[in-house]
Amino acid sequence: MKQRKVLVFMGSPRARGNSTILAEQAAEGAGKAGAEVEMFRLAKMNIGPCLACEGCRKKGAAGCVQKDDMKPVYAKLRAADALIIAGPVYWFSISAQVKLFLDRLYAFGAEDYRPLKGKRIGVILTYGDSDPFTSGAVNALRSFQDAAAFVGAKIEGLVFGSGDKAGDVKSNAALMEDAAELGRILGESRRTKGKS
Ligand SMILES: Cc1cc2nc3c(=O)[nH]c(=O)nc-3n(C[C@H](O)[C@H](O)[C@H](O)COP(=O)(O)O)c2cc1C
Repeated sequence: MKQRKVLVFMGSPRARGNSTILAEQAAEGAGKAGAEVEMFRLAKMNIGPCLACEGCRKKGAAGCVQKDDMKPVYAKLRAADALIIAGPVYWFSISAQVKLFLDRLYAFGAEDYRPLKGKRIGVILTYGDSDPFTSGAVNALRSFQDAAAFVGAKIEGLVFGSGDKAGDVKSNAALMEDAAELGRILGESRRTKGKS
């Protein structure tokens, strides 16, 4: 059995925010399932927007030209089996912190997105409205689905729910359990050929 590597990206600026709490649940689930888990607070990282300079596509380029906190993340993404991306709905879509991170994955386009192909993805979203449609959560979920399909990654689970004030999700036991279960699914060890 091979231990899975799971990366958890948290896109809320609120350290004790709802999506962060659910991301921690998922991370705990993945850890309990035997995975090696690494967590990233996107709002605390220095991640610039994609410059559309196409530097990553030049002959002999070694990835994105920007030397910021994304630099070590590219190598970790290559080595990972699964990613969990968690964040709030802002203005009827994904938050800017998550969008910056996603835009920078453009650099993998130089390799036809092969580093992301087959990656297992979990998405966690929280929103203030009570409804996933009127909140705009559906737009965010659709963005993840389209992006995953485009790069050949596989969405294994979408966990989304309502919460306004930081910590509100703690009173939603089903949602907390769904997040932990998502982590367990992504963290389970993978069978390697010829071994039990
Ligand atoms: C700038 C901003 C924009 C927001 N836009 C929406 C929105 O469009 N729809 C919605 O339902 N909630 C919206 N909210 C509420 C948050 O999505 C909600 O509080 C969520 O639980 C925050 O997640 P967090 O605690 O992980 O930060 C917004 C909050 C902020 C600060």
